[in-house]
Amino acid sequence: MSNNRVSRRQFLGYTLTGVGGFMAAGMLMPMVRFAVDPILQQHDAGDYVLTDQAVADITEEPVRVDFTFEQVDAWYTSEVTNSAWVYKEGDKLIALSPVCKHLGCTVNWGGDPENPTQFFCPCHAGRYEKNGQNIAGTPPLGPLDEYQVQEQDGFVAIGAVRENTLV
Ligand code: FES
Repeated sequence: MSNNRVSRRQFLGYTLTGVGGFMAAGMLMPMVRFAVDPILQQHDAGDYVLTDQAVADITEEPVRVDFTFEQVDAWYTSEVTNSAWVYKEGDKLIALSPVCKHLGCTVNWGGDPENPTQFFCPCHAGRYEKNGQNIAGTPPLGPLDEYQVQEQDGFVAIGAVRENTLV
């Protein structure tokens, strides 16, 4: 009889180690993928989403412009709708993100009757100047992000979001 036989105790140890490792991998893989996936995704900075907002109708008063794009997340593709506050400064188009820099609520232009020429966040009364600059003494600690924006065939096209370059 060989001395290399696996004892019942060893077999049980190997089996439990294998099953435990398999279960741990099953739990860790989604977390690792979630952390690494945004880094691996390729983003083309030249991508713009065409909206149905005519540039001719844009004034110095910010208007909310919704835009929809396809988002590919691994094997799952979904349609995502975002919005931007778009206005003109002279001939220049400006598009600001509506995402509040405090806790991520959506800001509205002129939402506070006492400050009709500012962006207002209804969640905690955060306020921003028209260029996205956060107003001292209100909860947000940074300015609204800015979208790249351009005119395409007379309509507003929204590009990548970036840090505010206006303040
Ligand atoms: S989330 Fe906007 S002020 Fe708090």
